[in-house]
Amino acid sequence: MKFIAQMEPWIGKEEKEAVDSVLASGWITEASKTREFESRIASFVKSKYASVLSNGTVTLFAGLKVLGVGPGDEVIVPDFTMVASPNTVVMVGAKPVFVDIKKENLCLDLTEVEKKITKKTKAIMPVAINGRAPDMDSLMKLAKKYKLFVLEDAAQAFGSYYKGKHLGTIGDIGSFSFSTPKVITTGQGGALVTDNKEFSDKIIRIKDFGRIDRNTQNHDEIGYNFKFTDIQAALGLAQMGKLEWRLKRKKEMYKLYKDCLKEVSQVKFIKTDLEQTSPWFIDIMVEDPIKLSKYLKTKNIGTRVFYPAIHTTKPYKGAEKFPNSLWASTHGLWLPSSTFLTESDIILICSAVKEFYEKN
Ligand SMILES: Cc1ncc(COP(=O)(O)O)c(C=O)c1O
Repeated sequence: MKFIAQMEPWIGKEEKEAVDSVLASGWITEASKTREFESRIASFVKSKYASVLSNGTVTLFAGLKVLGVGPGDEVIVPDFTMVASPNTVVMVGAKPVFVDIKKENLCLDLTEVEKKITKKTKAIMPVAINGRAPDMDSLMKLAKKYKLFVLEDAAQAFGSYYKGKHLGTIGDIGSFSFSTPKVITTGQGGALVTDNKEFSDKIIRIKDFGRIDRNTQNHDEIGYNFKFTDIQAALGLAQMGKLEWRLKRKKEMYKLYKDCLKEVSQVKFIKTDLEQTSPWFIDIMVEDPIKLSKYLKTKNIGTRVFYPAIHTTKPYKGAEKFPNSLWASTHGLWLPSSTFLTESDIILICSAVKEFYEKN
């Protein structure tokens, strides 16, 4: 029996042809294809500006830099997230201040956020775990009340919305990732979106050594090399052509899994509004995800347990407790989520889950 990976990118002939044509053109660094990819992203999410950078970690770093976050500042980050979120706060020399999540959506608990705001707080970094958003209306109200910036980590939320507005476009700046397992991929890659021209101009400078404009060697500030390539942009454009279908498929898959597992009382799903959310991964909550994962592996089914709660990891270990984050990290499992999985693949996976609970 073939091995079903938890996630695999789906690269077809359209991507190969698009990449081939860039290679044949002889111009592979970022240029017209990259600009075209940026416009496609901006028009898809409905933001005024979009810039693509090397990955969804440096996007967060550059976003924080643009907002002027640095040493002495604090940034509020959920304790349950991929570790890149707090790491980028450390990268700019600021302090990540962790806040617990809500069990119902795995996102920032806003009553807890307000308790953690101090004079040093400069920004909030909400993370849309699996395309689900925290209560962004209340978050924006809090940010306004305390004059804080909002940098949305929407790495997992391409194609997901909050009250009809694309995630990443509600705060000051939004960040996406196009790493290999994402809804669309450019191998590695990320994008920053904003409606603020000054922020957008700064992003363009920061990603290009701080150059005042792309054609000079003059720079007034320290910048980096977070540029893209037209090879990646061509890949991304071909993937954009398949995006609507993929988002639809992700939702169908989520429904199918949910339906297939509805009689398994040990498996719980996080409440998901499929009108707004396109689940990137199929996530389930179970008592012992490691045991289930090991069993599924014997059946040639790949899964991934959730991220560890950040406060339990070596670099961020502290005495403070984040019970919901700990609960999520010790109960969550990502089931196979590649969009090319067929209905019978999903039925087979669900049967293996059912079998596990019949035996355990
Ligand atoms: C929430 C979150 N933030 C940031 C990142 C980092 O993105 P990248 O892998 O493109 O650097 C990821 C990647 O999975 C993520 O899930």
